[in-house]
Amino acid sequence: MNQIIKNIDEYKKISEKLLGNRDAIKVPHVIALVGDLGSGKTTFTKSIAKAIGVTQEIISPTFIIHREYLIPNSKSYLHHLDLYRLDHEFELDEIGIKNLMKNQNVIVIEWADKFRKYVDLFTKINDTKITWIEMEYIDEGTRRLII
Ligand SMILES: Nc1ncnc2c1ncn2[C@@H]1O[C@H](COP(=O)(O)OP(=O)(O)OP(=O)(O)O)[C@@H](O)[C@H]1O
Ligand SMILES: [Mg+2]
Repeated sequence: MNQIIKNIDEYKKISEKLLGNRDAIKVPHVIALVGDLGSGKTTFTKSIAKAIGVTQEIISPTFIIHREYLIPNSKSYLHHLDLYRLDHEFELDEIGIKNLMKNQNVIVIEWADKFRKYVDLFTKINDTKITWIEMEYIDEGTRRLII
């Protein structure tokens, strides 16, 4: 799917399509976001949070790398990671990223393409599902999303 986003609210529909029917999903789900600075990765993550019922404010994890939010009425978490500042796979091991692939967790990873092979191996842990999404800056108010 290739979609032009002219309005931030348009992310809502996409997030709901991706994650709306939570009961049907019994496995961890990684949303791997690829796109330059300012392409809208954090903005899209906010709409994902809303789609799964997280009402806490989503703050960009750029400086602390990983934030987590309990998904209401569940035992699962929304994990939000930003790998921009990491350069080595052992750093991912150190933050225990593989341990997040459990329950019906939703794991959103900004800059996932820095570790594409490593991230793709998550499918081997608890049948984790991975959706790669490319985000592209077109102009100030316009982005392209490729799923
Ligand atoms: N159509 C659009 N889609 C997404 N963001 C938009 C759009 N139009 C304007 N913006 C703005 O662009 C900025 C995108 O920033 P955002 O923090 O989401 O990007 P990012 O990809 O997470 O960047 P970084 O790599 O620095 O983490 C926000 O200020 C947002 O309001
Ligand atoms: Mg961001």
